[in-house]
Amino acid sequence: MTTTTMHTHPDAARQAVAPPLFSLLDVEKVFPIDGGRRQLKALDGIRLELRPGESLALVGESGSGKSTLVRVMLGLEKASNGRVLFGTRDLGNLDPAARRKFAREVAYIYQDARSSLNPRMTVGELLAEPIRLHQLRESGEVGARVDALLAQVGLPEATRHRYPSELSGGQVRRVAVARALASEPRVIVADESVAGLDVSVQAQLLNLLRDLQRDTGLAMVFVTHDLGVAAYLCERVAVMYLGRIMEQGPSQAILRAPRHPYTQGLLQAFPRFDAPLTVSLKGEIPSPANLPQGCRFQSRCPRVEEDCRTIDPVQRALPGRQVACLHPLPAAELQHLQHAAA
Ligand SMILES: Nc1ncnc2c1ncn2[C@@H]1O[C@H](COP(=O)(O)OP(=O)(O)OP(=O)(O)O)[C@@H](O)[C@H]1O
Ligand code: SF4
Ligand SMILES: [Mg+2]
Repeated sequence: MTTTTMHTHPDAARQAVAPPLFSLLDVEKVFPIDGGRRQLKALDGIRLELRPGESLALVGESGSGKSTLVRVMLGLEKASNGRVLFGTRDLGNLDPAARRKFAREVAYIYQDARSSLNPRMTVGELLAEPIRLHQLRESGEVGARVDALLAQVGLPEATRHRYPSELSGGQVRRVAVARALASEPRVIVADESVAGLDVSVQAQLLNLLRDLQRDTGLAMVFVTHDLGVAAYLCERVAVMYLGRIMEQGPSQAILRAPRHPYTQGLLQAFPRFDAPLTVSLKGEIPSPANLPQGCRFQSRCPRVEEDCRTIDPVQRALPGRQVACLHPLPAAELQHLQHAAA
């Protein structure tokens, strides 16, 4: 296994032994469609862990199930099958005290930050609300905490008197980040929180999130279409396709030498920082309401073989990562040899 210094977290050793914050065990999410006549499997056989202080990117094309996965992790949707554990507690079964703890410890930055903020509240009120709700400061100290949060996300103190409608897209995202931090969480989950912004504002926000994650030791789940953004921001990546995690492991190792043909396809169309993902793979994408027998990637896979038509590959452990493929690409060392021989 090759190693990298770029994304090695100072607490990597601690993370490796720390019990997971989240464990998803064979999670499935099925939505009824066509008035209940048919079913759409938005998540299928999801196995995932998130440890304290770890940053994980969920990457995949539109409709691959990223937001559904996040919603299931946040308890906003109930898994149809399998289990979602927060620590050792089943998310579907939290008592009121555990639910309050969960609401404080797991903060969510919505895909549409602006509409998630009450337009009738000032930024100061928006940031004070979670501090008061979770009783994190004496009332005389709330103002100072709001100022500190604004400083932490790089907004001037005067922003506290403004309304969300008076702020730019980038400023609104910063407010959303500050509001997430206000509850002093252990995990921040951000769904496409830089999409739709111009490139330099995106870069500033990504740097902010990256610094926060590194400086505070927060765990982070970041949803993105963009493998480049994923690798820049997160130590680990999980690549999704039609509801299944196809490959997951350390970002740098996966980017350097993908082992799932789908990840390789994504990388060959290496996304530009400012453009949505386009995949260079040919072939039809099956409907998630009508998945084929066997591997769901068979219609686009350059490595497809006969058994791929009948066997649905589940995630399995290969050295340093997990891959859902019957015929994975060779490990990095062999890929280099093949390149050298070509
Ligand atoms: N409430 C719902 N009812 C029916 N189908 C749904 C529902 N929510 C999501 N889906 C379907 O589940 C699949 C996964 O959707 P999801 O929103 O999780 O994808 P995504 O990866 O977040 O996409 P995007 O990148 O466009 O945000 C899609 O086929 C979607 O149409
Ligand atoms: S199982 Fe077969 S079709 Fe699916 S990704 Fe692997 S090689 Fe391709
Ligand atoms: Mg989404």
